[in-house]
Amino acid sequence: MFLSGPFEYWSMSADDKYPAESGRRRFVKGVVGGAALAGVGATGAVSINTLTTSSGAGGGPVEAMVIENTAGPAPRGMPQIPIEIDADGFIKGIWPEIQTETVEGVEVEVARQDMPGDVTYSQEWFQYCGLESNNALDPSYESDNYFVQDPGGGYEWQSDKSEGDRFNISEFDDYTEWQSAAGIGSAGIGKAANAIWRSGESSNPLPITILRSEAIEEAAQDNEWLSASTDQGVIAWLNKCTHFCCVPSFKTANDAPKYDAADQVYCACHQSVYNPFSITSALYIARPRPQ
Ligand code: FES
Repeated sequence: MFLSGPFEYWSMSADDKYPAESGRRRFVKGVVGGAALAGVGATGAVSINTLTTSSGAGGGPVEAMVIENTAGPAPRGMPQIPIEIDADGFIKGIWPEIQTETVEGVEVEVARQDMPGDVTYSQEWFQYCGLESNNALDPSYESDNYFVQDPGGGYEWQSDKSEGDRFNISEFDDYTEWQSAAGIGSAGIGKAANAIWRSGESSNPLPITILRSEAIEEAAQDNEWLSASTDQGVIAWLNKCTHFCCVPSFKTANDAPKYDAADQVYCACHQSVYNPFSITSALYIARPRPQ
């Protein structure tokens, strides 16, 4: 199993971040398994990116918890969405509490709350790639916050779900054996679903990925943030590449193994790679929401 025996993985050194298809890169060999899941957990590493615009209402510098970007041109990881599971087993994203603030003399609403692990979770985590103008990021947009079936599709196992159907923890029961139909990477490292969040009839929905993994379950045991933001091994993130906004994939892209991303989240547009088992913090400039 993923956590019991030694499981080798490769990660690149920081100065060799752009992936190449050949074996010319320098690799750092690591061992994943039990406590050696070194990448899992809030490492506190902060990367600073200043690609986006100046601050404004609901925008500006923000520190978000992200699934780590490990290779490719993406400037940072993709933001995690803290989740909770209701009494019937349905999985939903936590939306931060709504507060009123005065910014440059104007009262604005922001969705922001303090969470365990010294994390300030806010809507600003998701304000990039044009999503800042999406109704879904309006602090008071009415939504029950459940993750629902993406009308654009998903993994093969989701094919019997209909648009708008929620996801139940019981659908992930086989997470310690699951393999994608594409057969990419290792079986049993976690079961994934593609979904949308807070998007209703929107033509520009928020794409997310849900992943249930033993690695996350284990890491949450001694990590305040992961314990608060995941449940029963379920983690979620906004699946929007921070490079040029494509929608990456986990264990489905045939190209992923060529870029050492078979068990990672891989963006086929320009080969950015994200590690969903490594949660770090990233400091960046959130784009302001339109007034
Ligand atoms: S790597 Fe360019 S959009 Fe994802």
